[in-house]
Amino acid sequence: MIFLKATPAAVKKAAAFIRKGGTAVFPTETVYGLGADALNPEAAAKIFEIKKRPAFDPLIVHVASVKQAKMLAFVTPKAEALMKRFWPGPLTLVLPKKRIVPDIVTAGLDTVALRMPANPVALDLIKRAGTPIAAPSANRFGRLSPTAAAHAERQLKGRPDIILDGGKTRIGVESAVLAFKDRRIYLLRHGGLPLEEIEKVAGPLASVLRSGKRPRSPGRLAGHYNPSAKLILLGKKKPELKKGLRYGYLAFTEKPALKVKKAAVLSPSGDLKEAAANLFSHLHKLDNAGLDIILAEPVPMRGLGRAIMDRLKRAAATRKKG
Ligand code: TXA
Ligand code: MG
Repeated sequence: MIFLKATPAAVKKAAAFIRKGGTAVFPTETVYGLGADALNPEAAAKIFEIKKRPAFDPLIVHVASVKQAKMLAFVTPKAEALMKRFWPGPLTLVLPKKRIVPDIVTAGLDTVALRMPANPVALDLIKRAGTPIAAPSANRFGRLSPTAAAHAERQLKGRPDIILDGGKTRIGVESAVLAFKDRRIYLLRHGGLPLEEIEKVAGPLASVLRSGKRPRSPGRLAGHYNPSAKLILLGKKKPELKKGLRYGYLAFTEKPALKVKKAAVLSPSGDLKEAAANLFSHLHKLDNAGLDIILAEPVPMRGLGRAIMDRLKRAAATRKKG
């Protein structure tokens, strides 16, 4: 494996790996992705292998233009309006797929998830590769998402052909995912583009949380984003610490008055954008501090707060060993 700063020469190298059916870790504005040629089933299979991702969980295909999106999916006028407004950016659209997209990429579904990332390294990589790039977040399945190249390197242990280091990601939570069904728009995942922003353009969304007849989102498992330590999402009550356990604390605006081994603050000024950008990097830091339990404070449910709370709830849902 090669680990390189994301200079134009390094991006060229990564593009060559992608063209030959290899894999590359690259920065996006949300989190780092583990990419391969989306039109090459053997290359896409490597992503599942490296991440230990189950085959039922489809990948997001990254494109460099709306034109490229139209080669892969049937783009409805509503979807195109959203692309024109929010691309490049942290918005993924699930659309009816065209035959050119291999089944392995969509986990056998008749839809494909598409996104045009806003990070210049990511866009340059897609353009130089000359092919759309399938890329999930560059973490082991079910674990914390990577917002720095070192996070991906630690989890994927040399298995990708190349890692491009583009520094800390700007947004820090994954893209919002929308699906179109029965002339309605469903929110499948809260993400880096806040609900309020999307609804300004799309009108009120049908939330998967509120609807019975909902489109499938196979990757939205409760036990996801799991640190090695057990994560507990706090309520309003002050927590009681048990003797003999090593505690970490993820605070929203200020360090707790509790005696914990390690504490981190998401945003001293209470800025939810800053909090989102720090979320995974702080969790990675806490998780590397040899803790038994991470206590996490809730954040307000508005703007990027929804995406943060979604990740914290899933991180708290189950504990994965290993
Ligand atoms: O910001 C992001 O979206 C990052 C960067 C790398 O672009 N990528 C990312 O990918 O978060 P991943 O694989 O970790 O999450 C993709 C999500 C999963 O929940 C998956 O189930 C859903 O998108 N998804 C993909 N294709 C789908 C489809 N055809 N129908 C419904 N959900 C789909
Ligand atoms: Mg992921």
